[in-house]
Amino acid sequence: MAFSFNFDIPLSAGEANDKENTIDQIKDVDLKCLESRSTSSKIKETIEHKVSIDPLSQMENFVPETISIGSLPPLLYLNESVFEETSLDREDTEEILAKTSAQHSDLISGVYEGGLKIWECTYDLLNYIDDEGVTFKGKRVLDLGCGAGLLGILALKNGATRVDFQDYNSTVIEQLTLPNVFLNCDEEDNNSPPPSKRKAFCTSPTIPDHCGFFSGDWGSFLPFMKNKTPEPKYDIIFTSETIYNTDYYASLHCVFSDLLDESGIVYLATKSHYFGVGGGLHLFEKFVDQENLFKIKNLKEINQGLKRHVVSLTFKK
Ligand SMILES: C[S@@+](CC[C@H](N)C(=O)[O-])C[C@H]1O[C@@H](n2cnc3c(N)ncnc32)[C@H](O)[C@@H]1O
Repeated sequence: MAFSFNFDIPLSAGEANDKENTIDQIKDVDLKCLESRSTSSKIKETIEHKVSIDPLSQMENFVPETISIGSLPPLLYLNESVFEETSLDREDTEEILAKTSAQHSDLISGVYEGGLKIWECTYDLLNYIDDEGVTFKGKRVLDLGCGAGLLGILALKNGATRVDFQDYNSTVIEQLTLPNVFLNCDEEDNNSPPPSKRKAFCTSPTIPDHCGFFSGDWGSFLPFMKNKTPEPKYDIIFTSETIYNTDYYASLHCVFSDLLDESGIVYLATKSHYFGVGGGLHLFEKFVDQENLFKIKNLKEINQGLKRHVVSLTFKK
């Protein structure tokens, strides 16, 4: 059973106008107020997921898939359809597996934000990285709204010193991101050794030393990270298919502005418009322009099916 694309439902003219108008409400949000927003009971708290054991050693029937793009190293990930079929057997304190399955939905706003499948803009960004030879050696990277985590995993494999993975849902981090990182944790793992052998590879200090795993809302993620000593700063922030909901623009922008190094870069991949949800590149650009902190550059446009984009954000000098 495949999850449906709720984003593909076209908006009525009235709904489209409503969404255009929401931008005026967003601009009134005080970006300095994140601390107080984070204490609101409506915001999902951020949790840091500590890595103690190889999560694959606890999984019985996992089926790895491999994606190979150009000269990029092969990336392994858990097969989505097997994941869905076995979803009801998995640990899921948030109950998102049961809810998405029952509602046949890719997204339940504020409950499940879509991290259990790999969205097509992730592939666009991987293709862009390959085409342009983006390098990661010595870089600190944040995969924001990571889902399966392929962008962060690529950075890790290509020499990033630090990669933090963040997703709204703890189930996504525990059941998908973490296992995917472990699937890729050693080149020799690419042949998928059995769990007993894998354990030896993956208990090496590599992952706990170089990666962090976080779940929760961006509004609580930012104060959580700012409380760390030293406060993290990233050279690269990846974020794919995360600007579909205008309600989240203020907290997303705050994460960029407070956690990106002053010479860092955000790579953002997105559809032009998210039908049925209302966000998209035009509204996000408008929001960023109003905040007047970042310049946005169009890096790539993909015109097959729904129009898609890869853009960068860097601080204005
Ligand atoms: C459509 S999924 C995209 C997943 C992945 N980046 C991809 O391209 O396959 C959107 C992701 O954004 C994150 N997200 C959306 N809204 C969020 C919010 N308000 N706070 C934290 N994370 C959020 C979720 O973690 C979710 O995985």
